[in-house]
Amino acid sequence: MLAELVISGFRYVSKNPLETQLVVILGFLIYYLIVYPFYLSPLRKIPGPYFHRISYFQALNSQRNSCWIQKVHKLHLKHGNVVVLSPNEISVNGKYKFINDLYVKNMPKSKFYENFRNHGFKDNIFASLENDRHLRYKKIVMSLYSKSSIFSKKNNTRDIIVEKVGQLVNAVATSSVTGEEPDHINARSIENEHGKGHKLRDGTWFNSQGKTRNLGIDVYSLFAALAMDVVSSFELGKENGTDLLLHPEKRHIIVSHRTVASMVFWTTLMPRFWDMAASTKVKKASGDILDWQLKLYAKAEQNVPKFRDDENLTTLEALKRAGLDGEYAYSFLTDNIFAGHETTAIQLTYLCYELSRPSNFGIQVALRRELENAFGKPNSTTDVINDLETVDSLPYLNAILDENSRVHTSIPGAEPRVVDKPYTVELGSGEEISLPKGTVISCLPFSVHRQEDVFPSPNQFIPERWLQYEQESTEDFKARIKTQNKFMMPFGKGIRMCLGMNVALIEMKLAIANLYWHYNSKICADWCDVTEYPSDKVPKEILLGEDSKGSNRTDEEKMVMVDNYTIRPLNDECWLEWYRNT
Ligand code: HEM
Ligand SMILES: *[C@@H]1O[C@H](CO)[C@@H](O)[C@H](O)[C@H]1NC(C)=O
Ligand SMILES: *[C@@H]1O[C@H](CO)[C@@H](O)[C@H](O)[C@H]1NC(C)=O
Ligand SMILES: *[C@@H]1O[C@H](CO)[C@@H](O)[C@H](O)[C@H]1NC(C)=O
Ligand SMILES: *[C@@H]1O[C@H](CO)[C@@H](O)[C@H](O)[C@H]1NC(C)=O
Ligand SMILES: *[C@@H]1O[C@H](CO)[C@@H](O)[C@H](O)[C@H]1NC(C)=O
Ligand SMILES: *[C@@H]1O[C@H](CO)[C@@H](O)[C@H](O)[C@H]1NC(C)=O
Repeated sequence: MLAELVISGFRYVSKNPLETQLVVILGFLIYYLIVYPFYLSPLRKIPGPYFHRISYFQALNSQRNSCWIQKVHKLHLKHGNVVVLSPNEISVNGKYKFINDLYVKNMPKSKFYENFRNHGFKDNIFASLENDRHLRYKKIVMSLYSKSSIFSKKNNTRDIIVEKVGQLVNAVATSSVTGEEPDHINARSIENEHGKGHKLRDGTWFNSQGKTRNLGIDVYSLFAALAMDVVSSFELGKENGTDLLLHPEKRHIIVSHRTVASMVFWTTLMPRFWDMAASTKVKKASGDILDWQLKLYAKAEQNVPKFRDDENLTTLEALKRAGLDGEYAYSFLTDNIFAGHETTAIQLTYLCYELSRPSNFGIQVALRRELENAFGKPNSTTDVINDLETVDSLPYLNAILDENSRVHTSIPGAEPRVVDKPYTVELGSGEEISLPKGTVISCLPFSVHRQEDVFPSPNQFIPERWLQYEQESTEDFKARIKTQNKFMMPFGKGIRMCLGMNVALIEMKLAIANLYWHYNSKICADWCDVTEYPSDKVPKEILLGEDSKGSNRTDEEKMVMVDNYTIRPLNDECWLEWYRNT
């Protein structure tokens, strides 16, 4: 019976080859377009668009076109906590359980991260996928990054941060407040391609209205210089880091980093096509960065300071002691330099921008009041607040930082993990779905930070939500903050959380404290049309996605956050004017 069937089947095929081909193709299509997605796929009951179930194209193409975060966010608003992203990937939101299961309980990282390897694909702590390997790396360096090490008076880190912040305060004074040394380097198109709109024909952009003081400066570049100087000194030793704050002419390396960072899609998702996608300019920038790094590292290795056991050890030395030499150590350093300078600069830029919006001027005033209560007024223009412990504990300053990292998260993009043993998710309907091993799963910090039940008016920048409300009991306040913190992941969450968080946090707090202790800031009106609101109106939220750039003329349009794995201001710039406090 069966044999007969097979034989007649063969006969049919040999007589009708074309029809057979059609049947086979049709069969395949029916399988991939209907049978698999609707009947067999373990993700078949998870809500989301049909096209996400049958192909990776939507996910990849939207990331390439910088609109993926918005799409996933909208999917969550429409379909609820669990949505399908591609045939093998889902996004989860809405419950702390997800954050806990994925990140605190530590599912391994997905292949996305593997491509953050450097120096000929050498592994590092951020790029390592497996938990055991990651832990081995983490043990080598983690004590250097702990809060107590960073705050310890025996160590260099606090001196590094105080020294660099002092240089920042001075750079703002000379380039903006007094206008003695206008920051030409950031206004010249050759150094800042996105700043090209700003040089007037006669080259006098800075004083286009006859101004000689309180000149507009691009704080995005300036903060990148601060962050680069801090992170490189931290990694390599106080004497061996960069000195971009002191030498604006060296800041071209920041532009090179930005140029390469704009390849993030190809770097992380299409590494094989990187070479094809990279323009000559990107390749040159990439080469320049490599040269620059190798010089920096070589300099640090030339003259290794003598350490007593475990004292003032740098990351470089800690890695070498653990047997990671040359490029194997450099891969860690390079990752930190990439991970650490851009993210920090973005946070500081958006924070100062928010404070500079006319409607938010009251926030500056309240911050200054808090600073003056704690430290008095500066005695001289070069006074630097260096009391890390007090700065770290100022409630209003902390509220501003928290709110900024919630709304303007430097890394709002998904943090993908892989299900390593069958994992059950509950849909809005109450139905439970078991995800097989290998399913990619992620939370989207952008959406986690915008859950309306936890953060009412989620898109508004409201530092007060981190402080006790007037009618609120201390108990309720504590409970509320605890919940809010559970849903914050600006530095990730759990075991793979940002290692540099304590460096970045105190660096940012000290920078903001010192800047607003000395100065107040305004959006530079030569740069854009500054949006004003009636005093009883809350300013508009700053949107995500280039689509929102509108006429690209107002500050709100120019500060649109680019929808990529890491955000940036639309045109890679933010021009503020600084005035000395009286
Ligand atoms: C405001 C500044 C920063 C932000 C917003 C930030 C954000 C993050 C995030 C979100 C992650 C986790 C990614 C994931 O799990 O998918 C991460 C990891 C990491 N960050 Fe940062 N970062 C900042 C500054 C720094 C600095 C200054 C350093 C180095 C000194 C650094 C070093 C690292 C390292 C080594 C990891 C990997 C940790 C691990 O896998 O164990 N970051 N960062
Ligand atoms: C660490 O470095 C600082 C600043 O260079 C120095 O004053 C201190 O003595 C060093 N600590 C130890 C324990 O060597
Ligand atoms: C916005 O305008 C500036 C000039 O003011 C221009 O250089 C820039 O390319 C524009 N950006 C976008 C995204 O249109
Ligand atoms: C590197 O830093 C150490 C101190 O941490 C210093 O002694 C040494 O001179 C520096 N090396 C170079 C080449 O600058
Ligand atoms: C965002 O990502 C896209 C796609 O990879 C890239 O073309 C673009 O330059 C990126 N933008 C920024 C500001 O990094
Ligand atoms: C800094 O200080 C802490 C405790 O005082 C110590 O354990 C650590 O190894 C020191 N070194 C560095 C570079 O943090
Ligand atoms: C300013 O000088 C006074 C008097 O010498 C001193 O008490 C105060 O601590 C100084 N303030 C700062 C911020 O250094």
